[in-house]
Amino acid sequence: MHVAMIGTGYVGLVSGTCFSEFGVDVVCVDKDRAKIEKLEQGVMPIYEPGLDDLVAKNVREGRLSFTADLSRAVKKADAVFIAVGTPTRRGDGHADLSYVYTAAKEIAAAMDGYTVVVTKSTVPVGTGDEVERIIREARPDAQFDVVSNPEFLREGSAISDFTHPDRVVIGTHSPRAQEVMRALYRPLHLIETPILFTSRTTSELIKYAANTFLATKISFINEVADLCEKVGADVQDVAKGIGLDGRIGKKFLHAGPGYGGSCFPKDTLALAHTARDIGVPLRIVETVIDINTKRKKAMAERVIAACGGSVAGKTIAVLGVAFKPNTDDMRDSPSLDILPQLQANGATVRAYDPEAMREAKALLPDVVWCDGTYETMEGADALVIITEWNQFRGLDFERVKALLRAPVLVDLRNIYNPDEMVRAGFDYHCIGRPLPLLHGEGK
Ligand code: UDX
Repeated sequence: MHVAMIGTGYVGLVSGTCFSEFGVDVVCVDKDRAKIEKLEQGVMPIYEPGLDDLVAKNVREGRLSFTADLSRAVKKADAVFIAVGTPTRRGDGHADLSYVYTAAKEIAAAMDGYTVVVTKSTVPVGTGDEVERIIREARPDAQFDVVSNPEFLREGSAISDFTHPDRVVIGTHSPRAQEVMRALYRPLHLIETPILFTSRTTSELIKYAANTFLATKISFINEVADLCEKVGADVQDVAKGIGLDGRIGKKFLHAGPGYGGSCFPKDTLALAHTARDIGVPLRIVETVIDINTKRKKAMAERVIAACGGSVAGKTIAVLGVAFKPNTDDMRDSPSLDILPQLQANGATVRAYDPEAMREAKALLPDVVWCDGTYETMEGADALVIITEWNQFRGLDFERVKALLRAPVLVDLRNIYNPDEMVRAGFDYHCIGRPLPLLHGEGK
């Protein structure tokens, strides 16, 4: 079985590598020659745990290669995956499909023999129809099927998500294409992963519905956290208490500074726009987007309040700027709202992130970038945790207090226990959890 994977972004590179790990012969294609050259040298364009080793192993064993020559890769392929970007289009919030359609044209020109063309990029309902139309128009006699096969992997745990998914969704009614797809995913069949065959349109919608539903869970618990703060309840216990109900599920109920990343913000927006255009507005999704946008903006206010109402002339230490741990991805990270707002209010920001600083430097000007966790805190008036990297979970409290000018800690990810922090002498602020009575107005 031969696969061509068009696009070596997160989804393309991880999917291509994992298919080669499944024993398939995979060629990953990208127009960016510099990226291809680096990949050939074993240099990854993204930080993803375990990816470099898996790439090296499969390249060594001859199942994985990289090229800028789309035509050659496609000619040989039984299945061609389109895994190019679908960013938010400037101005109207729709997904920009120009990369998908360009890839479809190029695939059409190169296809040789029966080929399954698979959209793995997250694409709006109806995109598969358009891809099919483009290929049919260019090659009226070609033998092919267009299949939707959305990817649900998360950054930071992408490899295990791909190799041990909760399910695989395959959108096609063509028996021939189903057979090819079943063969590609055979190793997952062996570990009894449910494989859902459905229509192409339904499959396209499943991906958006999954991401918007997860985003809804997050915005829901974030609003409940605000309510908890007003009534003195504990949002983590609320999450546990409702999550133990199997119908609700305990995952994705962590209150925090709002969701970011390459998928949720983009996909919620794209689905809301598509639905409105079709005349079936998804009001819940529109509200989720609104809540999340406002939430990210509101986080700086919390820091300012924790600093006694003003950060003018103060130094704020920030741990973590990536949108979540184990990634260097800064896309739509809450830090992009929080840090500039603190600076606009007169603060000097010192920050550290284990992997994302290279990405962050261009996006967050005038930040003092530090080399390590504790260095960041030197002489700061408050410490803010934005991303819950494991290495921030076990701070040496005495050392932190000695470095900070005031023991103010704003924990936007609830990684510390309020009782313990207050006992350790911190002026501790968190999300949706009450503080023990010896601290604050209840005393
Ligand atoms: C997400 C989906 O999980 C994945 O299935 C899809 O393929 C791509 O989008 P990803 O963006 O990598 O994956 O990250 P994820 O771990 O889902 O987190 C998304 C955002 O939600 C992060 O900003 C995270 O901090 C936030 N989040 C997540 C919360 O605030 N609370 C939670 O309980 C869970």
